[in-house]
Amino acid sequence: MSDFEHVFDAPPEGAGADWTIPQDWASYTGVEHRTWDTLYARQMKILPGRAADVFLKGLTALDLNTGGIPDFAVMNPKLQALTGWTVVCVPGLVPDDVFFDHLANRRFPSGQFIRKPDQLDYLQEPDIFHDVFGHVPMLTDPDFAAYMEAYGKGGQRAASLGVLQNLARLYWYTVEFGLMQDADGLRIYGAGIVSSATESVFSLEDASPNRLGFDLERVMRTLYRIDDFQQVYFVIDSIEQLKCETLQDFGPIYDRLKDAGPIAIDAILPTDRVFTRGSQTYAARGGRFAA
Ligand code: PHE
Ligand code: FE
Repeated sequence: MSDFEHVFDAPPEGAGADWTIPQDWASYTGVEHRTWDTLYARQMKILPGRAADVFLKGLTALDLNTGGIPDFAVMNPKLQALTGWTVVCVPGLVPDDVFFDHLANRRFPSGQFIRKPDQLDYLQEPDIFHDVFGHVPMLTDPDFAAYMEAYGKGGQRAASLGVLQNLARLYWYTVEFGLMQDADGLRIYGAGIVSSATESVFSLEDASPNRLGFDLERVMRTLYRIDDFQQVYFVIDSIEQLKCETLQDFGPIYDRLKDAGPIAIDAILPTDRVFTRGSQTYAARGGRFAA
């Protein structure tokens, strides 16, 4: 992760003790605003029929398509009225404890910068398009809002127990790359997918990845990749299911996981509920690095 541009060891100059910085909306350039508009328009061609209803409803409620990068001073009152969440700006990836503290207090930390015009399709660091377009619509849902707050508190606990790796996998396979069984079929709700034109299609329609029913302990054991499309996606039945299952005390689970060992990224277990048995050909050919 050291090759990331927006990574710091301590709050950089201008940041508060909680690592927040002003959005400074007036400082965005015309090019940056147009980048938002381009990305937004592109996703809106792809997401109807693919993104979960709850995501699309949240997007509409926030009204993020008024031209250019959303001004948090305008967006936050709408979000706060719905679920008590607000979005704050941070200078890049923040330390785990800072991240968890924000979530536990219903503050979502967002990158302030937007990707460059030559990075529309792929960047590894979360920018404001990923963070706001991808994450914030789900925060308008009361159950998801509660889940994210609980995750922040759970993160503080997991850190003190030395089991962050397990909890991080849960975040990855739900908040970032989750699929949901909607009334009309499989739908996307994970922010890493809905903010990516290519993965929005790949995650649902490609024959390569496995699509498996969500199982809490199984997910917390499953390895993941940060540099390419996922090789497995986990499907929840509803946000309510996710909230209810994660309400339980993870103490006994963490104890069991200590002896359980990780599960390979492309494994299908006899106990898995299989939606798609993937061919894994995309990964086998080298993924985005294929010749
Ligand atoms: N229930 C978890 C615990 O006891 C906390 C948690 C809730 C973690 C929701 C993730 C998501 O640690
Ligand atoms: Fe994210």
